[in-house]
Amino acid sequence: MDSKRTVSIIGTGSYVPEKVLTNKDLESVVETSDEWIYSRTGMRERHIAAEDQAASDLGSEAAIKALVDARIGAEEIDLIIVATLSPDMFFPSTACFVQEKIGAKNAFCYDLGAACSGFLYAMDVAKSQIACGAVETALVIGSEKMSTFIDWEDRGTCILFGDGAGAAVLQAGGEGRGIMESSMGSDGSLAHLLATPGGGSRNPISHEMIDQKQHFLKMEGRDVFKHAVVRMSEAVLDVMEKNGISADDVSCFIPHQANIRIIDAISKRLGVADRMFSNVDKYANTSSAALAIALDEAARGGTIKKGDLVVLTVFGGGFTWGANVIEWGK
Ligand code: ACO
Repeated sequence: MDSKRTVSIIGTGSYVPEKVLTNKDLESVVETSDEWIYSRTGMRERHIAAEDQAASDLGSEAAIKALVDARIGAEEIDLIIVATLSPDMFFPSTACFVQEKIGAKNAFCYDLGAACSGFLYAMDVAKSQIACGAVETALVIGSEKMSTFIDWEDRGTCILFGDGAGAAVLQAGGEGRGIMESSMGSDGSLAHLLATPGGGSRNPISHEMIDQKQHFLKMEGRDVFKHAVVRMSEAVLDVMEKNGISADDVSCFIPHQANIRIIDAISKRLGVADRMFSNVDKYANTSSAALAIALDEAARGGTIKKGDLVVLTVFGGGFTWGANVIEWGK
């Protein structure tokens, strides 16, 4: 279906908390080594939020930077979507807390749950809302305090994640094609491979559930790795076909920042290693924030420029995956 209006990204922002946790620091937390972590994941360090910082605090910091970049006031925002798997609380939505913190009093707000794919999914939903004329300006945020949901005694997962947030302001109009068609998919039959099984209505909070550490993220790393490579590669190929472009037309590919070996495997499959963006060394996997932070860094650092075609791709729990294409208009 053709969008009725062009939708552009008019500003981006990102925020990571002050505290840095290096691979070396992790050596005193679990039995691991800087060498093991770096060679398996490409990660050097990650940022960890302070005790009194929740997802909405991180998200608000990123949002304020995005608004400054977009040169608009918070009251101009009609819609706020926060993608997160580490919300401030079950309800109200983290987006409502962000609204209050940044003073976006004219917005309606909700959270979107698609695990690590959340920011791209939220961008697609916001884009559709703008394209059909329902809203003019939307603030899309990926924000995670992963450190709260990680088992710090499980070396298979605790080394992989970090905290942070990224944001983008979407608005009707702009030069070029803006945010183009997306390609997205999900496979609920594989939900068990990456999940936080406890604490919801399936397995409610109880002493027993907590003793069994079911409230922490669980992952079958090797399976996740394989599916992530296949699904992100397929999504990129599909979205390029859908939009009538080839890899040669694309200036920059920005994938979910989960592991440099996943990113390298996708680069190899698509033959685009020279244009693949990564910052996983600095932040580790910040789930739904990872793509948002990477997009902001690529834009601010001049990796993507006005008129460039940029392909974004994500993969996460669910499983969920997707890709989209943006003609950068700033
Ligand atoms: N330090 C040292 N040794 C470790 C560590 C660690 N931190 N973690 C595991 N090991 C050990 C294991 O115990 C195992 O030892 P064993 O052979 O004696 O049993 C050995 O290392 C190999 O373990 P594997 O799990 O097979 O290691 P692998 O090479 O597959 O790497 C990793 C593990 C890095 C987790 C990899 O599977 C991976 O990156 N998977 C994808 C994870 C991911 O990206 N998830 C998120 C994607 S979606 C989202 O963002 C939510």
